[in-house]
Amino acid sequence: MKRIGTFFLALTMAGAMVSCSSKSSSSDSNDQDKEFYGRGRTVGIALPTQNLERWNRDGVFLKEQFEAVGCKVDLKYADNNKDKQVEDIQSMIDEGVQLLLIAAVDKDNLSSTLDKAKEAGIPVVAYDRLIMNTDAITYYVSFDNYMVGAIQGEYIKEQLKLNETNNTYNVEFVGGDELDNNARFFFEGAYETLQSYIDSGKLNIVSGKNTFEQVTTPEWSTDNARANMKQLLADKYSDGTTLDAVICANDSTALGVTEAIQSDYSGTNHPIIVGQDGDVENLKNIVDGYQDMTVFKNVNDQAKVTLEICKLILSKETPSVSLLENLHVDVKYDTSTYNNGVKYIQSYLLAPYAIDKKNLQSLVDTGIYKWDSNNKYLDIVK
Ligand code: BGC
Repeated sequence: MKRIGTFFLALTMAGAMVSCSSKSSSSDSNDQDKEFYGRGRTVGIALPTQNLERWNRDGVFLKEQFEAVGCKVDLKYADNNKDKQVEDIQSMIDEGVQLLLIAAVDKDNLSSTLDKAKEAGIPVVAYDRLIMNTDAITYYVSFDNYMVGAIQGEYIKEQLKLNETNNTYNVEFVGGDELDNNARFFFEGAYETLQSYIDSGKLNIVSGKNTFEQVTTPEWSTDNARANMKQLLADKYSDGTTLDAVICANDSTALGVTEAIQSDYSGTNHPIIVGQDGDVENLKNIVDGYQDMTVFKNVNDQAKVTLEICKLILSKETPSVSLLENLHVDVKYDTSTYNNGVKYIQSYLLAPYAIDKKNLQSLVDTGIYKWDSNNKYLDIVK
């Protein structure tokens, strides 16, 4: 129930989000940067994996933006291996970075490493994923993760016209990696948005898998998602039962689900498939009609907000939402949603939004994507 409250708060807060005055200009920010105390300092950035499109984008934007204000960047990817990430972070502490920015592979295994960062006086910012059981972090920069799932649920509700129809539909949930704190938020946002229809029997989860623990996908991997969906189709849908929709926590899992449906689903309908991230392969599937929607998160904006907060930390100032006002980014400040087991973490949450066939151009308008030479599919600009 708490999560529902948070979602409505998030929606009603939308109008109060920092939307950004037009006062920033490049000369303003250059002037500020001249005074920037962090110039010449090294920022250690630990990201989970290069196997997934979005983290490559995050790496490019973060490095570029930190270097543009004169910071040095040590960027390391952990190949989704939690032990490697501990080593990555330890080596950054040893080399004496002045700030750590971390998207954790495993939310639970960084406590003792971050104790060492704290002893060394290195501030730590949680990037995209919350880090649990540590008092070494004060700030968290992410998207409204619950809203990601809620947007997916809303989309299914609209596409199946759940408020107007008397039909019943069969749906399945495919979750993310349980080591990632975001994954539960995505699931709960989607599940709770659809819960009243599930409870009334209008939506039927044929597999019976209606808890987060039952639908997780290790490492968010396409292979695991494909294998799980093939198994599910064999077990529950091979008798001709219709599958109407699959809510996938992100695009790498949606890809596996789409492939399994293409190869193993015997029905003649097209099950609605939703994902998250706006990965190029999934956008291609949206153009071709195999996937329906992806929840897009502008990681260039996420990098901008992160940079601003890190600049203030490095300058020994206190970040506040009003200081983000000139960024032209929808971001809200939240101090009551993300508790990491030790305390509530001050969170800066950007707004996600739905992309389907009808608004692909809005991705091009972000400057991150471009149309390919045939004006049919989207590519990443860099
Ligand atoms: C991110 C998603 C991403 C997933 C898999 C999550 O923490 O928020 O954008 O798809 O990790 O890497």
